[in-house]
Amino acid sequence: MAKETHVLVVDDEKVVRDGCRRVLSGRGYEITTAENGLQALEILGADHIDILLLDLKMPVMSGEEVLEKTRDTHPDIPVIVITGHGTVDTAVECMKKGAYDFITKPFQIDQFLLTIERAADKRHLELKAKQFEAENIRNLYDLNLEKSRLKTIINCMANGVMVTNRNLEVVLNNPALMRLMEITEKPKSPVPISEIITDEDLVDTLKKLLNGETPEAESISQEFRIKQNTLRALSAPAIDSDGAIAGTVTVLEDITAFKQLDEMKSDFVNMVAHELRSPLVAIRQLNSVLLEGLAGPLEEKQQDFVKRGVAKIDSLLNLINDLLDIAKLEAGKFIQHQVPTDIGKIIKEILELMEPRAQKQHIVLSHHLENLKPVQADPKRIEEIFNNLISNAINYSPQGGRVTVSAKGLGEYMEIRVEDTGVGITKEELPKIFDKFYRVKNPKTRQVIGTGLGLAIVKGVVDAHQGSIQVESIPDKGTTFKILLPVIDTKE
Ligand SMILES: Nc1ncnc2c1ncn2[C@@H]1O[C@H](COP(=O)(O)OP(=O)(O)OP(=O)(O)O)[C@@H](O)[C@H]1O
Ligand SMILES: [Mg+2]
Repeated sequence: MAKETHVLVVDDEKVVRDGCRRVLSGRGYEITTAENGLQALEILGADHIDILLLDLKMPVMSGEEVLEKTRDTHPDIPVIVITGHGTVDTAVECMKKGAYDFITKPFQIDQFLLTIERAADKRHLELKAKQFEAENIRNLYDLNLEKSRLKTIINCMANGVMVTNRNLEVVLNNPALMRLMEITEKPKSPVPISEIITDEDLVDTLKKLLNGETPEAESISQEFRIKQNTLRALSAPAIDSDGAIAGTVTVLEDITAFKQLDEMKSDFVNMVAHELRSPLVAIRQLNSVLLEGLAGPLEEKQQDFVKRGVAKIDSLLNLINDLLDIAKLEAGKFIQHQVPTDIGKIIKEILELMEPRAQKQHIVLSHHLENLKPVQADPKRIEEIFNNLISNAINYSPQGGRVTVSAKGLGEYMEIRVEDTGVGITKEELPKIFDKFYRVKNPKTRQVIGTGLGLAIVKGVVDAHQGSIQVESIPDKGTTFKILLPVIDTKE
């Protein structure tokens, strides 16, 4: 520390100046000397000085005058006054005026060094304190700057942001949220959620998030409409530093344009599928005519080729039908004729149809029907549910498995289960299997041909009947699809 201490010695006597330099510079202090007050003030103005050693009796300008001046200009520099014998009173006077300490001539080296050291310590401590203070102010400034930056970002975001507390009151919102929710008056804060969000499903989701009823660290996505616009809300619990749920955070996005585009795409797929279907059906019919020998007998090889052609056409037609089904489901036009439907009968029929395929793979099909009740449904579409689920169960099972279909009346619902002992689906893949065109990449089922539309159709049909579908699976053990369909209310 001493090395950095710069001492200015001001004395008209050369011996004193030289003496000081000799004693101090040997100990690492940096020394500058001045022989009168004026010179001293000049140096003080130009250099960084840590300690001022000041003789009181000097020509040109007295030490007292220098002291007074430096107290104004450099109040932080400790000043040690040098006095002769018998002038202690003056020294005391100087202390009152702000000098730090005094030493008397002739110097006692030990005492002299001690006094300088103390002054150096004081100087350095004060400099350190100043530095800390500056840093502290800087931190506070940064914090404030950070806050206002965050506010600016949130206010300028195109997406709506909404934060609620534990009581489901909105404590933070941004202009985009107000715009999306078509609220013109700036709400007070906090404001009950009902004044901002009118969609009951979204409010329910937020309640669930607050109660910790949702899978942890997962945000929940849902869509809802505000007049002509479709919005997507992504909500997540706000977790505080102790890991407790402190509220919820929702980001809202206007996806109207995206929805319109999606509709245009569906219309396009619909149109193309229709256009492809008619000529394909015609080609299939012509091939059937050939196969039946109505255009003359076919040789074995020719028959084989035409048969293979028909099989390809059939799978293409299946794909086209699936695409058309999906398009209809998305347009809400899929379920047309809802009548009281006997689920048990449909199950038995489909199982019968599937029997040959199951036998080929040595799979045992069985069913279990209990307490059957009719459901209000479109029988054609219910058939599609079983067609898809049972063919999946067979397709994704190795040789020699078991597929069980059961239907059971449970209060207001029919519970339908399709269980298999097949390859199963991993936990990561489960949420994706109902997506359009999604197929699990499993080397064991690579040979199965499909488009990944089956389960999307199944889910669409179930949803359109106000039902629900769940799936449980253990890899290499098997999969169970469970569907609940509301039964006809007989009390009415
Ligand atoms: N019972 C099951 N056991 C194991 N995996 C299954 C089962 N059912 C469906 N899957 C997996 O889910 C994926 C999606 O099934 P989905 O029925 O939608 O399509 P797909 O069978 O591939 O084609 P398709 O549209 O012809 O039905 C399948 O590719 C398969 O990986
Ligand atoms: Mg399938």
